[in-house]
Amino acid sequence: MEALRAEGLEKRYGEGETEVWALRGVDLLLQSGKVVALLGPSGAGKSTLIKVLGLVTHADRGDLWMNGERVLEGGRPVADVGELRRSHLGFVFQKANLIPFLNARKNVEVACEIGERYSPGKRAAELLAYLGVGHRADAYPSMLSGGEQQRVAIARALANGPSLILADEPTAALDRDRGRAVMDLLRRVAHEQGTAVVVVTHDHRALDVFDATYEMEDGRLSGPNLAA
Ligand SMILES: Nc1ncnc2c1ncn2[C@@H]1O[C@H](COP(=O)(O)OP(=O)(O)O)[C@@H](O)[C@H]1O
Ligand SMILES: [Mg+2]
Repeated sequence: MEALRAEGLEKRYGEGETEVWALRGVDLLLQSGKVVALLGPSGAGKSTLIKVLGLVTHADRGDLWMNGERVLEGGRPVADVGELRRSHLGFVFQKANLIPFLNARKNVEVACEIGERYSPGKRAAELLAYLGVGHRADAYPSMLSGGEQQRVAIARALANGPSLILADEPTAALDRDRGRAVMDLLRRVAHEQGTAVVVVTHDHRALDVFDATYEMEDGRLSGPNLAA
C-alpha cells in the first residue's frame, strides 16, 4: 500500500536577502512496510522535509497524500492535520525528549491516551516489551541509558499504530553498537508492523538496514522510485 506520495514540495524560509529555498521540488513515493534512509549534508533540507511530511510546518508548493488521502494541495492542508498527526504519524528525534517526571510506561501511555485507539496500559506494556525495554517500564528517563531512552521514544512513536514514522537523526547521540540496534529496531518496526519509516542519518555504516537510500542536496531529493 502507498503510505506516502509527495509531488513537487517546495519550502522557503525568509524573504528577500534572507530567503532560503530549503525544498526545491521534492517528489517521494513510499510504500507501507518499507524503511528508507535520507542522507545528505547539513543544510540540505532533510529536517525541513521531515517537518513538511510530518505536517509540522506547511509547504509553499506541492501536493501530499497519506494512505491515499489528500493532505496538502499547493502546499496547504486540505485535511484535518491534527487528526492525521495523532492517528497516522510517529516521530523520533536525536534526543528522546521523554517527559522527565513520568516513568517509561507512563511516557508511552500518555501518547496512547492522545490517540484513544488502544487501551493505554496494555499497549504501553506490549510496545516496551517489543522494543526490548519491558524490564525498564518503571524507570524514569534519567535512569535510562541513551539507547534505552530511544527505544522508549520509538515505543511512544508507535503508540497509536501510525502508518508513517519520521525519524530525524535518531542515532546521532548513540555509540555505534547502540545506534545499530536502534536502526535494526526501526527496520523491524517497518517490516513487522507494516509502518513506513523514513530515517535521516549520517551513519553510512548502517545503510544495509534500509530498503532504499535517498540523497538530499540543496533542497533536491534523488533516489529510487519505490512505486513498484
Ligand atoms: N526556521 C528556519 N528559518 C530560516 N531558515 C531555516 C529554518 N530552518 C532551516 N532553515 C534553513 O533551511 C535550509 C535547510 O535546513 P534543514 O532542513 O535544517 O537542513 P538539514 O536538516 O539537512 O541540515 C538551511 O539553509 C537552513 O539554514
Ligand atoms: Mg537536520
